[in-house]
Amino acid sequence: MEIKEIVKEKYGQAALRVTTGGSSCCGASATVDGCGVDPITSHHYDANQTGQIPEEAVVASLGCGNPTALAQLNPGEVVLDLGSGGGIDVLLSAKRVGPTGKAYGLDMTDEMLALARENQRKSGLLNVEFLKGEIENIPLPDNSVDVIISNCVINLSGDKDRVLQEAFRVLKPGGRFAVSDVVVRGTVPDEVKRSMLLWVGCIAGALQDEQYVSKLAKSGFDQIDIEPTRVYNIEDARTFLSAEGIDVDSIAAQVDGRFMSAFIHATKPAAACCAPGCCS
Ligand SMILES: C[S@@+](CC[C@H](N)C(=O)[O-])C[C@H]1O[C@@H](n2cnc3c(N)ncnc32)[C@H](O)[C@@H]1O
Repeated sequence: MEIKEIVKEKYGQAALRVTTGGSSCCGASATVDGCGVDPITSHHYDANQTGQIPEEAVVASLGCGNPTALAQLNPGEVVLDLGSGGGIDVLLSAKRVGPTGKAYGLDMTDEMLALARENQRKSGLLNVEFLKGEIENIPLPDNSVDVIISNCVINLSGDKDRVLQEAFRVLKPGGRFAVSDVVVRGTVPDEVKRSMLLWVGCIAGALQDEQYVSKLAKSGFDQIDIEPTRVYNIEDARTFLSAEGIDVDSIAAQVDGRFMSAFIHATKPAAACCAPGCCS
């Protein structure tokens, strides 16, 4: 409960900063370089994508990837964004699935929901709905979603097993899980991991790549894959870690190449054929 309250407070403040004309960033760059070019959250979207949606949705972007660019989204499909923030990926998905499809955003932070709904109003998109709730208890029925996307949110949850089980529950048979998240490659000492994850985001609890795969498999997913999209090295984090009093050179060898943003994808198996004609 405590983690959730801290996350809510941090992201509520980030949303308010955007509303008052500032930048949304709330990780290391907010304290160290005043939200300049954040190596985690910047440059994920090209001009073709950002030109399609309100500027405030782009400014509010706090993800560590671009799941809508990597996910397959087809006209008429239902998409759900876990931890939708200011709504950037929901609005981009809504454009891709078109008026016969629907894009849901789910977030627990009131200020983020208000910002996202305002961005939806400015976009004029009607096939969008922002829901208030927690990704550990998704307020949608079983087998109702074609594609789950998410951008740098699952690492924030204190109960990742529950999030993946809920994602599996709401996906239709054959549905796709297509998520950007921070992942740790291999084993890293806890102390080093804590420092790096403090740098990566407001509050991050990234999984090791093998843990992610095994948790997805345990929840029932198959065709699981993790593709690195941005690998971080110690120089990206040097200023922040030094300011925290950490001897950067002594941990460099344990950090380089181990922390990355990745595109994680998996599939809910299609329903088994249970009666004559049921698969036709
Ligand atoms: C790092 S921001 C990412 C926002 C958005 N996906 C983007 O790319 O800009 C994390 C968002 O997830 C939301 N969030 C974090 N944990 C959550 C949870 N357990 N349930 C629902 N929303 C959550 C926060 O309120 C915040 O808006």
